[in-house]
Amino acid sequence: MFRPTILITGASSGLGAEMARQFATLGQDLALCARRTDPLEALKAEISSAHPDRRVEVRALDVTDDEQVFEVFRSFRADFGTIDRVVVNAGLGKGAPLGTGRYAANRETAMTNFVAALAQAEAAMEIFRAQESGHLVLVSSMSAMRGLPKSMTVYAATKAALSHLGEGLQYELLGKPIKVTVLHCGYIASEMNEQVQQQVRFMVPTDQGVRSMVAAIEKEKAHAYVPPLPWTALAPVMRHAPLPLLKRLL
Ligand SMILES: NC(=O)c1ccc[n+]([C@@H]2O[C@H](COP(=O)([O-])OP(=O)(O)OC[C@H]3O[C@@H](n4cnc5c(N)ncnc54)[C@H](OP(=O)(O)O)[C@@H]3O)[C@@H](O)[C@H]2O)c1
Repeated sequence: MFRPTILITGASSGLGAEMARQFATLGQDLALCARRTDPLEALKAEISSAHPDRRVEVRALDVTDDEQVFEVFRSFRADFGTIDRVVVNAGLGKGAPLGTGRYAANRETAMTNFVAALAQAEAAMEIFRAQESGHLVLVSSMSAMRGLPKSMTVYAATKAALSHLGEGLQYELLGKPIKVTVLHCGYIASEMNEQVQQQVRFMVPTDQGVRSMVAAIEKEKAHAYVPPLPWTALAPVMRHAPLPLLKRLL
């Protein structure tokens, strides 16, 4: 379904910035936010020059500041009149094995990827309930399929929680005009993984990975594994393989 106005969090780099470019190409207006405003302004200039008819507004937002989340989402709605889709994309890949003195990094990941995502979902749902329509997109991960070791433990737990949050909303909203999509992303090149891009199997370039994300979002699928190959085939294996087999696969 064509949704004319899209709000994207974490739009200053990686998947968020590339989604903004691709949605602008499809003819959608954009409300973009992140903590770093210089890359947001540069992205706005780039999109406005390529698509002069598109409206792009940017705002600074730290998603871990609850009050600011509600304030920024409401201000964007006031700017555009309606917000038709919200992509909860801001996220962090920090983390360390539990008990190794890095609680601060694990806590920051938990607060950003889950508690702040909850605040964004609350603020989006408040707008959608008032409008009686809207599309909420939660950017989860293939790591939501299973508990994962070491630096991934907290990250995987936050993404599993985010996926369940989305499913709970889908359950509540069955047959209603507000839609919810949970995207389980595989490895897509971005700032988050630039240190490991050469070492990881199935990594795809940013534009290619984001094309799969945008296609799934536009279809408003309930759940999607992106890119579909190999991740749709790997999802049930990741979910059900006994841990010793999982350890050999990942
Ligand atoms: N790339 C992958 O392979 C992959 C796979 C699965 C899931 N994902 C998910 O995709 C999403 C986007 O990640 P990415 O790969 O594009 O990484 P990225 O390039 O590091 O982008 C992360 C974005 O989140 C923003 N962000 C982080 N903390 C924030 C905060 N406290 N407040 C506001 N914005 C914040 C960053 O903006 P500022 O620093 O400017 O605030 C940045 O724009 C994340 O949720 C990630 O978990 C990515």
